[in-house]
Amino acid sequence: MAVLGLDIGTTGSRAVLVSSDGQLLATSTEFHEAFSSPETGWAEQDPDDWWRAAQAAIQAVVGEFDNEDIEAVGLSGQMHGAVLLDGDGAVVRPAIIWCDQRTDEQCRWLTEQVGASRLIELVSNPALTGFTLPKLLWVREHDPEAWKRVRSLMLPKDYVRFRLTGERATDVADASGTLMFDVANRCWSLEVLDLTKINPDWLPTVHEGIAVTGRVSPAGERATGLRAGTPVVAGGGDQAAGAVGMGVVRPGTVSTTIGTSGVVFAVTDRPALDTFGRVHTFCHAVPNRWHVMGVTQGAGLSLRWFKDTFGLDDSAHDTGMDPYDRLCAEAEEAPVGADGVMWAPYLMGERTPHLDPYARAALVGLSASHGRAHVTRAILEGVAFSLRDSLTIFNEMNLPTTRIRLGGGGARSSLWRQIQADVYGQAVNVLAAEEGAAFGAALLAGVGAGVWSSVDDVCNSVVDVAHTIEPVPEHVAIFEDCYRRYRSLYNALHPLG
Ligand code: XUL
Repeated sequence: MAVLGLDIGTTGSRAVLVSSDGQLLATSTEFHEAFSSPETGWAEQDPDDWWRAAQAAIQAVVGEFDNEDIEAVGLSGQMHGAVLLDGDGAVVRPAIIWCDQRTDEQCRWLTEQVGASRLIELVSNPALTGFTLPKLLWVREHDPEAWKRVRSLMLPKDYVRFRLTGERATDVADASGTLMFDVANRCWSLEVLDLTKINPDWLPTVHEGIAVTGRVSPAGERATGLRAGTPVVAGGGDQAAGAVGMGVVRPGTVSTTIGTSGVVFAVTDRPALDTFGRVHTFCHAVPNRWHVMGVTQGAGLSLRWFKDTFGLDDSAHDTGMDPYDRLCAEAEEAPVGADGVMWAPYLMGERTPHLDPYARAALVGLSASHGRAHVTRAILEGVAFSLRDSLTIFNEMNLPTTRIRLGGGGARSSLWRQIQADVYGQAVNVLAAEEGAAFGAALLAGVGAGVWSSVDDVCNSVVDVAHTIEPVPEHVAIFEDCYRRYRSLYNALHPLG
């Protein structure tokens, strides 16, 4: 008996098959086409490319097993993207995805139209360029031909659900990032929809993360090899599902995840708000729980951008070693604090704490004696400082941050782990296996199908802390000083555009 979890990420779709005792039976990742950026700050992907990749990833894991043994499927995916379909269920235009920053004007209009504090009362969050509703307003204004054809709206992973089951459904965690969702009451906000003239009939039905939203259709079976009739569970946006996969399900537990973006995630038993809206307040994928999260737009992206743009020339240095490992090994040679070199990671604007789509990245403090090792180290440290900004806000909100679990690709680098412990000034945990959001989606599917009795129970039994990394006191002292300097970077750079 097994459950399948699927994550529709930014760079690829990943399927994992998990046994009833939580063991990973098979995994497969199929890459997406890179997002297109027709103008600075724009980011678009083709939903049919997600479906192509999802089919391939599912087929690869299902092919190894008897599909009769797969009890349920759970979905997760990149949040906030606007998928627009016509009356026949065909994609109307490329989806504007989470990291797109074109909607500043729409956010201003929305804030004025609804009122800044009323908006927070209604949907628990301020208008941010990354969220879905401003993207819809942009399309309505700038691509009216496409908008005329729209009959249904959905989030990225829910397009895959639609192709698998024929159902238009989503989950409370992913819906929380649309700005159309009443996070406190876990339902669509009819008032926001009314004030912005978005037709509520176009929205998917919304469910708790463990609810069954439909079943694999005969067409879904032909496309993927999954058995028709297999239940498909709601799941969660990638951050909430990833948190489930890391056992971050109870108040007091915090995760910091470095993927393309960087996310600091804390569980709460009620919707907790930051007065300045610097962190998001969303429903968790666990019934009756919420979470807050701070987002660094360009976390792993910072290192990837640097590797791709200024990294090692692979053909000339082909040692067979992973290029990220080589960069990190080199960075270990630079001193803690990178000898004063600092990185402000605002390659795609910034959410937490600045809420500024126009913020730009910067590398400062260079001298002729610095080399690539200093710069790579500065990038790793700058991303950790940015994540610490979220922890600082959680502290201001009196949310406990005593147990920190590291996740994402960034947690695989021993240097980046140590830098995180030292920058946060507290011990951090690394999990025995961290399989990301697809794993969390599989756990939610298993709870939905009755394989496990609750999300808390399955997390207790299948998520293990492998080891704890203690901060090094001398490094903590150096980083305290560096963090103070880092905090002044944004304001110093802001006037320069
Ligand atoms: C969360 C967010 C990203 C995306 C991409 O708010 O924008 O984590 O979900 O993975």
